[in-house]
Amino acid sequence: MGGNSFGTLFKITTYGESHGKGIGVVIDGCPSGLELDLSLIANDLERRKPGQSKITTQRKEDESFEILSGIFEGKSTGTPISIFIPNKDQRSKDYSHLKDSYRPSHADYTYAEKYGNRDYRGGGRSSARETAARVAAGAIAKMLLAHYGINIIGFVSQVGSIILNHNNLDLGLTENNIVRCPDPKTAGEMINLIDKVRKTGDTIGGVISCKITNVPVGLGDPVFDKLHADLGKAMLSINAVKGFEYGSGFKSVSMKGSEHNDVFTKNKDDNIVTQTNFSGGIQGGISNGMPITFNVAFKPVATILKDQDSINTAGDTVTVSGKGRHDPCVVPRAVPIVEAMAALVLADHILRNKAVKI
Ligand SMILES: Cc1cc2nc3c(=O)[nH]c(=O)nc-3n(C[C@H](O)[C@H](O)[C@H](O)COP(=O)(O)O)c2cc1C
Repeated sequence: MGGNSFGTLFKITTYGESHGKGIGVVIDGCPSGLELDLSLIANDLERRKPGQSKITTQRKEDESFEILSGIFEGKSTGTPISIFIPNKDQRSKDYSHLKDSYRPSHADYTYAEKYGNRDYRGGGRSSARETAARVAAGAIAKMLLAHYGINIIGFVSQVGSIILNHNNLDLGLTENNIVRCPDPKTAGEMINLIDKVRKTGDTIGGVISCKITNVPVGLGDPVFDKLHADLGKAMLSINAVKGFEYGSGFKSVSMKGSEHNDVFTKNKDDNIVTQTNFSGGIQGGISNGMPITFNVAFKPVATILKDQDSINTAGDTVTVSGKGRHDPCVVPRAVPIVEAMAALVLADHILRNKAVKI
């Protein structure tokens, strides 16, 4: 199976399945001498963890982790950093009804057809448990970015048809509520909607927005490795993601060039900035120094507590019954995953950018 690695210079490889001994990540290319605060890894794993509130799955995952290599006396050594996250609370019998059946809109059918095997107890490598390894690596990437003053913050901006108004936001309020929406009133409405959907055994989608500040000019390359192209791949590689847009995104289609152009000016510190930021901080695939902004759309996930028509491995029509524990809406838990993938892309481009000119 290919595709388990991501990045060029700051490169990660994740491994493991949700019903094996554990999952983990090897980070190759983290520069030596970086001060590493392990509590920041623990904190991001807690933010991703299931069972954290009434609006996430009640499945419990113990997010303790072990650093196997690459760190000495609190600093990176420049050698591969290996992080192992053991699996606990695997209720394999919760999945026994899926042994021979394919869940509609899950990864079961395609995975089994492609590899000739499928771990029905949790989906093998297609399980979102894998994203815990990305979050651990992303926490280290965030520490590298903090060294350069770069900050990443993700927040929930839509659940179903409840949309956050982006004017006058205080992103510092994001972690104050269980849905991770910075506006308390909108957060309350989102929580009520998710709870209502959960009680009917159904699921609902949402959008995570992300803002990256203090990005230097010059990250990204102008052809295949445009910064937004790498961010797009990073985000679209997250389970259940259906869409990615940066800056004005799809809304740009209905604007005129005269409205959409970001006019250059100088700020009070004499730096070149733009008056608006429809470009989302990236022009020609290269960061322009303005905040990078993007949105990631998540679908209503496949596991619903309702009976559904499907087929089994023999091709017969069957009913897949809805049972087990599931996430009614994944966006609250996916905020640290989006941040982690953004951090991995930026960390990689920061290192790559050191090799472009004398
Ligand atoms: C944090 C997180 C939790 C998830 N939890 C569930 C879940 O409880 N049930 C489910 O069917 N899918 C869940 N998913 C999504 C599946 O992993 C994903 O839909 C599946 O692998 C198929 O891939 P695709 O939707 O990207 O095509 C979750 C995704 C994320 C990011």
